[in-house]
Formats: sequence, structure tokens, C-alpha cells
Amino acid sequence: MSDAVLNQFTPATYKEESAAERKLKFGIIGTGWIAESHTESLKRMPDAEIVAAADLIPGKAEAFLRRYGLKPVDRYAAAPGIRCYPDHAAMLAAEELDAVCVCTYNTAHTVCTVDALNKGVHVLLEKPMCVTLDEAVEICRAEKANNALLSIGFQPRMDENMKMIKKIVQSGELGKVYYIQTGGGRRRGIPNSTFIEQKTAGIGAIGDIGCYALDMVLNAVGYPKPLTVSGYTSAYFGANPKYNNPADAARFNVDDFGAAFVRLEDDIVLDFRISWAMNLDTPGDTIILGTEGGLRIPSTECWNGSVGGPMILYKEVAGKQVSFPIPLCEQKTGLFYLKLRSFIDAIQKGLPAPVPSSEILYN
Ligand SMILES: NC(=O)c1ccc[n+]([C@@H]2O[C@H](COP(=O)([O-])OP(=O)(O)OC[C@H]3O[C@@H](n4cnc5c(N)ncnc54)[C@H](O)[C@@H]3O)[C@@H](O)[C@H]2O)c1
Repeated sequence: MSDAVLNQFTPATYKEESAAERKLKFGIIGTGWIAESHTESLKRMPDAEIVAAADLIPGKAEAFLRRYGLKPVDRYAAAPGIRCYPDHAAMLAAEELDAVCVCTYNTAHTVCTVDALNKGVHVLLEKPMCVTLDEAVEICRAEKANNALLSIGFQPRMDENMKMIKKIVQSGELGKVYYIQTGGGRRRGIPNSTFIEQKTAGIGAIGDIGCYALDMVLNAVGYPKPLTVSGYTSAYFGANPKYNNPADAARFNVDDFGAAFVRLEDDIVLDFRISWAMNLDTPGDTIILGTEGGLRIPSTECWNGSVGGPMILYKEVAGKQVSFPIPLCEQKTGLFYLKLRSFIDAIQKGLPAPVPSSEILYN
């Protein structure tokens, strides 16, 4: 990972840290790429510890733990260390965990989350929440039926600029919001590994990066319910060996571009497009149009929470059309750290989920 990514783990000086409460016992489900950010963040928490890890690939959890300076042990070992399991079910059956981080590829999110919730274990579930609406409903039902907390891993929610977008909308400066355009993406940026196949990812660009763009604006306007959705996906690049390496092109069977026109409650229209590859630099900035003002949010990668430059607010003042930049907010603490910290705080202090499933269900 690059320094920019690793810097996201920078811990804050939380006052709770000195008064560390009981250490919450964590299990990591899926020890792939994103598990690194969960593990590095958890290692910095005085009131949490990783006690177990599971991965379907033999030896992967052990190698992963060693890579991050942790001591893996066999699941039957009495020796101190982090017990390793061949899958999430074996781990949940054997361990008395407080919480798990579900870091599997998308198509395993539902089974891992529902099984953990049904054991009363709190879950921090990576984004996208799942692949289908039926799965999202199943997850929400399991959460409701059990006394366990579920938060979805949208770290941009912790970003000061993202919070500013919500503050501007909620302040009423824009008046009544009636139209939103969002999305973004890459000219060329198709990932590989488990991201490009139905059996593991389920969905492509829309689930990988589209969900962030949607969350940015839907969270700002208070997650109104979608009333109708006309959606489109295509895959003209990922499956083409001209644009993707031949081995990846041969197995590519998800979307690399998605668009949708959504009618939301409160008479809001949402226009969305996202791309892993296209013949353009950006499909457009995010814009939020209201009766009293408009906000332009320069196009961004979304996942790291940063906006693509100062946002511009457009207003009419004393009959004059004016526009001015909103100064960028400084982000002092790493987003991945805050994602874990806010989840642990919610458990320890009985607070609501930092990113509730009841919202992300609509995402
Ligand atoms: N928040 C972010 O910024 C961010 C960034 C990258 C990826 N992600 C999300 O994280 C998730 C994982 O991505 P990744 O790149 O780490 O994937 P990955 O394929 O590298 O790792 C997933 C691992 O989960 C394991 N697994 C699957 N089912 C399992 C089960 N039932 N029990 C135990 N292990 C199981 C797999 O064997 C695999 O090793 C995806 O949903 C992705 O969208 C989030």
C-alpha cells in the first residue's frame, strides 16, 4: 500500500484511550487486502484486541497475521496468539467474540454478517453492504432480530469535507434540493483479483466505487427512499483484452460502467454514473441543485473521502449571481482508524451505528 493509504491509519488522541474499557474481542473474517486497514487500526486501539482470524485459503490468515507483526496459532492451540480458522463459521462456533470485521469479497458479506449477528456478535461490514436488495433485507432482519450492532464500512463518512457537504445541505443554504448529479470514476482503472467476477464480487464498478458517490449525496440529503430506478450497466472495457490484461479480460464478467436515473422521495431526482474505464476524464462533478443555492463538488475517487478540490457554492445575493469556494477542511485523523474507532465507541457507549444499515439498504 502507498504512504497515502497507510497514513489513513493515523490514530487520534482519544480521551477514551487512557481510560481503556474492557478489551473487546475481535475476529477478522477474510484476510485479504482490506483486512490490513482493519488490523492496523485495531492494533492501535487500547480497548480492543484481535483474538481470531479466518480465511478460506489455507495458510492465508496465518501469513497475513505474521505480515502485520501478530502471532498466529492453530485454532486448537493452548498457546497465546491469534487463533486461525478455515472459515467464518468455524470461527464463530469456537470463539466467544464481541465483534467481527467482515472483510470478505462482496458475495460472502451476507452469510458472514447474518451468521455473526445471529450469534449476537457486533459486525463492522465492509462496503458495499451486499450484492442484492434481498441480501440487504436479510441482513437488516438479522440485525433487528438480534441484540447486536451493525455498521457498514464507509470511511468517507468520517471525512471533514464529506461532513461539510451534509452541513451545507442541512443548513438550508441550498433551499429545497430537487436535483443531484453524482458519480465519477476513472478513465482507466479496472481492478483485478476478486473484484472482477460475479462469483466473488457480484457487481463491478457500481459496488466498488459507485456506492461511495451515492452515499456522499444520499447521506447529505438524509437518505430519502428511492421511488423508481432506471439503471444501466455495461462492460465494454473489462472483458476486452485491448484494455485489460488477457487473463483478467477472460474472467471479467461484472460491470465496468453504470448509470442510473433515480426518483427519490421529497421530489428529488438523482442522476448517477460511475466508471472503472471510459474514454473521458470524468463523467462530471457532483452537483446538488436547490431552490436557494447550488453546490459543485469536484469529481473525486470517493473511497478515500477526499473531494477533488474546493467545493463551489452558487447563490443569488441582493439580485447578483455569486459563487465562492468553500475552503477545504483539514482531516487530522485517518479515516480507516476513525471507521474502527467510531464502531468500537458505539459498542462501548451504546451509541447508534456510525453508518447504519437502515440507510445503506437504499444504497
Ligand atoms: N473500504 C474500502 O476502502 C475498501 C477498499 C477495498 C476493498 N473493500 C471491500 O472489502 C472487501 C474485501 O476486499 P479485498 O480486496 O480485501 O478482497 P480479497 O479477495 O483480497 O479478500 C477477501 C478474503 O475473504 C476470504 N473469504 C471469503 N469468504 C470467507 C468466509 N466465509 N470465511 C472466511 N474468509 C472468507 C477470501 O478467501 C479472501 O481471502 C470487498 O467487499 C471490498 O469491496 C473496501
